[in-house]
Amino acid sequence: MNATLSPAEILNWLRETDPQRLEELWRRADETRRNQVGNAVHLRGLVEISNYCGRQCAYCGLRLGNRKLGRYRMRAEEIFAAAQQSAELGYGTVVLQAGEDYGLTAGGLAEIIRQIKGETPLAVTLSLGERPDENLKLWRAAGADRYLLRLETSDRNLFEEIHPPLGDRECDRVGMLRRLRNFGYEVGSGIMVGIPGQTYASVANDIALFRELDLDMIGIGPFIPHPETPLGNGLRFFPTVKHEQVPNTELMVYKTVALTRLMRPDANIPATTALATINKKNGRELGWQRGANVFMPNLTPLKYRRLYEIYPNKACIAERGDPGHGCLSLRIQSIGRHIGKGQGGRRKRQPTTAGPDQKESCHA
Ligand code: 5AD
Repeated sequence: MNATLSPAEILNWLRETDPQRLEELWRRADETRRNQVGNAVHLRGLVEISNYCGRQCAYCGLRLGNRKLGRYRMRAEEIFAAAQQSAELGYGTVVLQAGEDYGLTAGGLAEIIRQIKGETPLAVTLSLGERPDENLKLWRAAGADRYLLRLETSDRNLFEEIHPPLGDRECDRVGMLRRLRNFGYEVGSGIMVGIPGQTYASVANDIALFRELDLDMIGIGPFIPHPETPLGNGLRFFPTVKHEQVPNTELMVYKTVALTRLMRPDANIPATTALATINKKNGRELGWQRGANVFMPNLTPLKYRRLYEIYPNKACIAERGDPGHGCLSLRIQSIGRHIGKGQGGRRKRQPTTAGPDQKESCHA
C-alpha cells in the first residue's frame, strides 16, 4: 500500500465519523505499524526533573504565572538514581523532561548526561523546551541521543496566541527541530489535539509537516483544560467557526495517531499519558492498536510527581515506579505485543542532514 495520503485525503479522514470506515483506517495504521516497526512496544522511563518554567504557555499548568503550584527541581543524585531505575527495569531509554528552567544549568545537566551515558546502557532523551543552540550542542557532546520539542500546532497565528515569547527572542520551533537534527540528535515533536481555535485543516497540515520534517518520534495527545491557565478557565482564543474546531476527544487523537503512522511509517509514536488520562481503562491499548508503538512510564519520584501538573488528573500519578513489571507488561501482552529490548531508536537511521526524499533511498 502506498502510505502517502494527499492533503485532501488526510482532511477527509480527520472528519470521518462512520465507525466502519474508521475500522479501515485503524486496520491500515496497525498493519503499517507491524510491517515497519514490528510488535515491540518500547518503554522510555520518564523523569520530570523540574517543574519550574519561565514561559507562559496559555494551556500548561507549569506556566510561570501559576502561583498555586509548588515548585521542585531534582538534585543530580536524584536524577541519576531515577535513570538507574529505568535501566534496572530494562527500559532502553531515560527521558529527562522539565519546564523551560534555566535553573537547570547547561553545564550541570551535561555532567548528569555524561554520568548516565558512562554508567548505564541507556539512550538519553531530553525534553527541556526551547534552549539556546550552545546548550543543545553541549548536551549532544555530553552524549544525549534524542530531543523532544512539540510544535503543539503548525498554525502560526494560533501558536503565537498561546505561546507568549520570552523577551524579544523569536520562536521558531521548526527551525530548532532542523538544527537539532544537524547537531546529530534523533528528533521528536508532536501536537496537542483539540486546542481551542485549532481547525481540521491545521491538524492535516501538522501531519503533513511530520512527514516533511522526517521526524523520528511523534507524540500526540488531547488538549486537557487546566483550570489555572487562560485556556482552561473559559477564555477562548480565536473563536473558530464551530464545525472547523477540532474536538479534544479520544477519537480525534486516534485518527491523528493512525494518519501519522501512515504518513511517517517508521517513526516511534507513543500512546501518550494525556491519551491514557482521558481513557484510563484502555486508551493506551487502543493507541497501540491504531498506530502507536511506544509508552513512557513515569519514573519521577512520587514526592514530586503530583507537582508536575501540566494538566489535571494525569494518569499514573499514584502508580508505583515499576509498571514494567506489573500492569504495563500485562496490558502490552493482552493485545499480543511484547516489551521492546534495547534502546529502541529509529531503525535504519543514517547520520545525514539530507532532506526526507533523499534519505528515503538510504532506508531501502
Ligand atoms: N493538555 C494536554 N497536553 C498538555 N501539554 C501541556 N499542557 C497540556 C494540556 N493542558 C503537553 C504539551 C507539551 C507536553 C510536555 O505536554 O504538548 O509539549
